[in-house]
Amino acid sequence: MRPLDAIRSLKLKLGIVIVATVVGTVGVLVVGRRAGLALEWRLVAAVAMGVLVAQLLARGMTSPLREMAAASRAMARGDYGRRVHATSRDEVGELARSFNTMAAELATVDRQRRDLVANVSHELRTPIGALQVLLENLIDGVAEPDEQTLRTAHAQTERLGRLVEQLLDLSRLDSGAVPLRPSAFAAAPLLEQVAEEGRLHAAQPVDVRWEAEPADLRLTGDSDRLHQVLANLVDNAVRHSPSGGRVTIRARRLAHAGHSHGGHAELSVSDQGPGIPAADLERVFERFFRTDRSRTAADGGTGLGLAIARSIVDAHGGSIRATNEPIGSRFVVELPIR
Ligand SMILES: Nc1ncnc2c1ncn2[C@@H]1O[C@H](COP(=O)(O)OP(=O)(O)O)[C@@H](O)[C@H]1O
Ligand SMILES: [Mg+2]
Repeated sequence: MRPLDAIRSLKLKLGIVIVATVVGTVGVLVVGRRAGLALEWRLVAAVAMGVLVAQLLARGMTSPLREMAAASRAMARGDYGRRVHATSRDEVGELARSFNTMAAELATVDRQRRDLVANVSHELRTPIGALQVLLENLIDGVAEPDEQTLRTAHAQTERLGRLVEQLLDLSRLDSGAVPLRPSAFAAAPLLEQVAEEGRLHAAQPVDVRWEAEPADLRLTGDSDRLHQVLANLVDNAVRHSPSGGRVTIRARRLAHAGHSHGGHAELSVSDQGPGIPAADLERVFERFFRTDRSRTAADGGTGLGLAIARSIVDAHGGSIRATNEPIGSRFVVELPIR
């Protein structure tokens, strides 16, 4: 039992402990004298009483500090699982609760780091393994160095290169190593360019359209980075489109009461593909997440595109989300305009 847990101030608690100890000691002295006890015995009893009262009341006041010290040492060794018992409501309890929050956050970061390393190794191993087998076959003369074989090898190296490139990009974005270079620019040329690139890269005929509302809409941000975001969304949309499907890129100003300047712009990319399972709408932005691993691994998808897009949009102070339409999916980016 911790009798003083409900008190919010450490100072007040110490005061209570001191006063109670003094009262206890004096009480014993007085009672001892009335009972006719010798002075020595009275003093011994008083000291014992003082120690008892202090022990009883101060119980649990400092134990969170000791626990925190032990937990910090465990953390330094890489064990993030320890938590401190925080029952008191004073400053020490407050500190213990903050400590627990911090420990939980560190544990999450640590887990994410481990997951990332595991994912990266896995993703690198697949194309490297395929390349290795292929080259071994060539050396052993089992396979001929014909065009098809070399093309396969080339595709694997391209995939590896892209993966490494995207990982570097993500880590740069995360660390803020490459600052954004924001400017104001017209939306229409950006949309036109992205649409053109989407058409060029499509493996099947896809009708890529764009529209800006108003036509002279201006965006603010790092135009290269925003181009990267849209190109990524259009690339996904085109890849998931059925033959002859339509991909629409739209930019519009969001109605904003009472503001002629500022507010938000909305950029969206919609397709007529299979859509995204409802449970995965948020997960598609996770690193290496793919709804269909077999298919996307074959067509070169890394599962990093949307994670990069989200990092870029976040850095702009905006948001990105995925939704499903009656037919197909729609990705919506909201950006503040300054
Ligand atoms: N337009 C879309 N329609 C259906 N699924 C999509 C669409 N865009 C993205 N996805 C899903 O989200 C996953 C993650 O996308 P992304 O991060 O760009 O990785 P990648 O394109 O390399 O697979 C894709 O593998 C796919 O499963
Ligand atoms: Mg992609």
